[in-house]
Amino acid sequence: MAHAYSLYEEIGSGYKDGLKSDEQVKYPDTAYFKGGLKPGRVEGDVFELETTGIIPHDIDGTFFRVQPDPRFPPMFESDVHFSGDGSVSAFRFQNGHVDWKQRYVQTDRFHAENKHRKALFGRYRNPFTDNEMVKGIIRTVSNTNIFFWRGTMLATKEDGPPFAMDPTTLETIGRYDFDGQLKAPTFTAHPKFDPETGEMVAFAYAAGGDGHDASCDIAVWTFDPDTGKKTEEAWYKSPFCGMIHDAALTKNYLILPLTPLKADLARLKRGGNHWAWDPNEDQWYGVVPRRGGKPEDIKWFRDDNGRASSVTQGLPANYVSQRSMAMLPGRTRTMTAISSWISRSRTETSSSGGRPTTTPATRQRMCGSNSSQTLSGGSLIQRPRATRGSSRLGCTAPTASSRASTTGSSPRSTHTSGSSKSTRPGRTTSPSAALRREVCST
Ligand SMILES: [Fe+2]
Repeated sequence: MAHAYSLYEEIGSGYKDGLKSDEQVKYPDTAYFKGGLKPGRVEGDVFELETTGIIPHDIDGTFFRVQPDPRFPPMFESDVHFSGDGSVSAFRFQNGHVDWKQRYVQTDRFHAENKHRKALFGRYRNPFTDNEMVKGIIRTVSNTNIFFWRGTMLATKEDGPPFAMDPTTLETIGRYDFDGQLKAPTFTAHPKFDPETGEMVAFAYAAGGDGHDASCDIAVWTFDPDTGKKTEEAWYKSPFCGMIHDAALTKNYLILPLTPLKADLARLKRGGNHWAWDPNEDQWYGVVPRRGGKPEDIKWFRDDNGRASSVTQGLPANYVSQRSMAMLPGRTRTMTAISSWISRSRTETSSSGGRPTTTPATRQRMCGSNSSQTLSGGSLIQRPRATRGSSRLGCTAPTASSRASTTGSSPRSTHTSGSSKSTRPGRTTSPSAALRREVCST
């Protein structure tokens, strides 16, 4: 007589030919759903967590964490962890005790799938593989980072808009568009905050179209911390639609690392992966002014093929000095070249209220001609750009670029979870009525 378990495979693995084939709540038997990535699917509260050791009584505040946690088994067996619904945890420390709370970010996608009790969105960042029932619904899962903005907490993923949450209850308030000021379909998970002015400097890539059509549009915004008003907005073009996961902020510039991880609309329409690595493409860095930026102001620097999606990786603050940029492993000469160029542009020492003071001659050196530049002994030397084997996927190439002659490895890792401490230790406040009005009502 056969043991019941011998019938297990016939009962169902949950997937047939790579597609979810039954209603069973069973996750793929792949590395993305095992071990530390195993879905937890828990919402709840624990009063008085069990701890190891003694918690100092003067720790008074909340530690927040966000992580991907797929609510339902994915449609595709080959799906990746990054597709998982955002889940936020709060660890509240006070008087030597710690309590825990965890809630999902209730995105539009979360509500759509909850209603039908199954996954309806297909491959990672590919709407062409979605169930017809969810066509047009915003796909983001807000699982990458959380940060505070004017009393509320925003959960973000770079393929869609932020979602606002109450930091005390972890209730999802709704989609956040900065009181209608944000028109782009995408928004970075890693905005930067100027420590002197409190301004938020944010950006988005694939910011044109619907956010899933591999556009080469980059948007950069600045928001005032007191009024919430958008004070700067500039749009640029990238040479190809690649990932710009993070950025670095200086006093007068924003540095955008463009990795050779490319999106291609034709591939998406065929039902393929959103990203594909191009081994023949350089790692690019776009440098844009923080004030009064115009499309032609973006300055591109280039380095050898490799991944440096976050120029701030390993650094302690999100306000990155020129000196700390030069500390990035494997990218030292490129960072030095960028720092050198910024210094020569004279805007870092400007006393004109932060507005660029570049002269026409400097501007020409930044953006002019169809040549590119290479680094030699710390100097930028003009040279004709060599033809490379990679394609530009239909995007307009920038007018000038700089390529450092460095070799060596670059940071390979990126993170999919973020954490933040309350900016008001000891208490977190509920968003005011005015802030709630900034949340999208549709
Ligand atoms: Fe990140």
